[in-house]
Amino acid sequence: MGKGAIVTAHPLAGGQRCRQVALPGRALPQPIRIAPPNIPPAPSSSLLFSSGSLASRCYPSIRSIPIPLSRSAPLRPLAAAALVPRRVGAARRAISRRRVGALLLLLQNSKCSNLSLKSTSKRQKKSYVTCASAAVQGQKQTPLTGSQEVSGHSSSKPKKVMVIGGDGYCGWATALHLSNKGYEVAIVDNLVRRLFDHQLGLDSLTPITSIQNRVRRWKSLTGKTIQLFIGDICDFDFLSEAFKSFEPDAAVHFGEQRSAPYSMIDRSRAVYTQHNNVIGTLNVLFAIKEYSEECHLVKLGTMGEYGTPNIDIEEGFITITHNGRTDTLPYPKQASSFYHLSKVHDSHNIAFTCKAWGIRATDLNQGVVYGVRTDETAMHEELSNRFDYDGVFGTALNRFCVQAVVGHPLTVYGKGGQTRGYLDIRDTVQCVELAIANPAKPGEFRVFNQFTEQFSVNDLAKLVTAAGAKLGLDVQTKSVPNPRVEAEEHYYNAKHTKLIELGLEPHLLSDSLLDSLLNFAVQYKDRVDTAQIMPSVSWKKMGAKPRTVSV
Ligand SMILES: NC(=O)c1ccc[n+]([C@@H]2O[C@H](COP(=O)([O-])OP(=O)(O)OC[C@H]3O[C@@H](n4cnc5c(N)ncnc54)[C@H](O)[C@@H]3O)[C@@H](O)[C@H]2O)c1
Repeated sequence: MGKGAIVTAHPLAGGQRCRQVALPGRALPQPIRIAPPNIPPAPSSSLLFSSGSLASRCYPSIRSIPIPLSRSAPLRPLAAAALVPRRVGAARRAISRRRVGALLLLLQNSKCSNLSLKSTSKRQKKSYVTCASAAVQGQKQTPLTGSQEVSGHSSSKPKKVMVIGGDGYCGWATALHLSNKGYEVAIVDNLVRRLFDHQLGLDSLTPITSIQNRVRRWKSLTGKTIQLFIGDICDFDFLSEAFKSFEPDAAVHFGEQRSAPYSMIDRSRAVYTQHNNVIGTLNVLFAIKEYSEECHLVKLGTMGEYGTPNIDIEEGFITITHNGRTDTLPYPKQASSFYHLSKVHDSHNIAFTCKAWGIRATDLNQGVVYGVRTDETAMHEELSNRFDYDGVFGTALNRFCVQAVVGHPLTVYGKGGQTRGYLDIRDTVQCVELAIANPAKPGEFRVFNQFTEQFSVNDLAKLVTAAGAKLGLDVQTKSVPNPRVEAEEHYYNAKHTKLIELGLEPHLLSDSLLDSLLNFAVQYKDRVDTAQIMPSVSWKKMGAKPRTVSV
């Protein structure tokens, strides 16, 4: 171990021992991960923190922990948990060797005498595409499947994909799927989703093990390595090191606070959500610009950005004729929570940087995801995905299945006519793979609506009631006061053809899938906490005071 190194075990790093090494030009030491193949997994209680710990100082609390969300103290929740693989130094040396190599090659092959090192690393002048519909319509593409060679990349070298938020529901399934398909995968995550559960007293229906155990189990089953970068993307130093070390060809960005109710609990959660999501995404854009300018950003947006307009929803853009002039413009956004508003701002920042810096980006406006198993997560119980059913993080169909199994009436909010796009988690991983395999062009900002079917809440309740009856369950439905501010009966028709054109083969919500979801809920029935089922966050009653949402 180097002189002056500090050994520590960060609670949010699963208790792993970290070596802190001062980086050049930085006053504070940054921790660097030492891969510990045989260190036993940390118990989940290691995620708990005392009121004096870094995490408790940095996250909004349910009781009395101070929240540093002021201009003078920007939120950097896990700066000290920035754990970067040891290869950073080696990678940096390799990059500079490669740059020098490229320069020498250029000098040999060129008669031009005034080449500089800088010129080799800058993007060539391009005419940028700023409108997705124009780019997609204007150019005929032959869609590739994920395992096919992607233009510009050698088939002998797997594409490197950084999965930001890879410990979460969609991210974990996607990381495994891409690894299984031969991509080289790195997960970036600060594990804050697990911390939310501890703060709010929630738990996944399915037991989930630590991220370290998950990737170890994956390696032992398949021989494939998934690199881990545990840290906060709001910490740009951490993110920079992760980008420089891994050099991703694509960055799939799931790493946000993704619950609308969470963002509406109180002021501190609203501020946290917008800071975490908007600044995190901004940092990813800067990291791509600075360190991986060819990297394709695949960003998870949400169908909720559009709201429920009384006209058809297009895929990202709409052509409007106004006072005799016509233009294709971003589709109007009418977000209905501080969370959804953070996604709208992300989309604007991404579109702007595509135009200004030539970044290539795909915004996947995803519908509500249901289901828990994918081919990969079903391989071993330690690869199990999370299954949220509570009033804060649970999505409608997952929650209804759990309610049906424990004999709790299905809780339909208000009139139940709220209609949204839905998709199976197996289609989430497929869509992301298709987006990576068919990347946006430099400067192009594409938007795909990522869902396969539309249902109203009443439709879902009827489907679950019928599927429950087949299993002998007497499923009741009750309308509860709607805690949200939203239309309860409305027109809804959203386009979703672009991913189908790229080759998406949807898994539609069938009786058999509902049966298997219900059986899943039966298997883990004993873990259900019925106190978490009812909605506990009101859009109208949220206040500035920090509050608890648990019973
Ligand atoms: N689940 C859905 O139904 C759904 C629907 C539409 C869109 N989406 C979008 O998909 C994405 C993933 O959703 P999910 O359901 O998997 O959420 P999730 O909460 O299960 O996963 C998000 C992951 O990101 C991590 N994360 C959050 N902030 C981070 C930060 N600053 N630095 C590093 N890691 C961070 C969390 O720890 C977590 O592991 C989100 O952007 C969400 O808005 C999800």
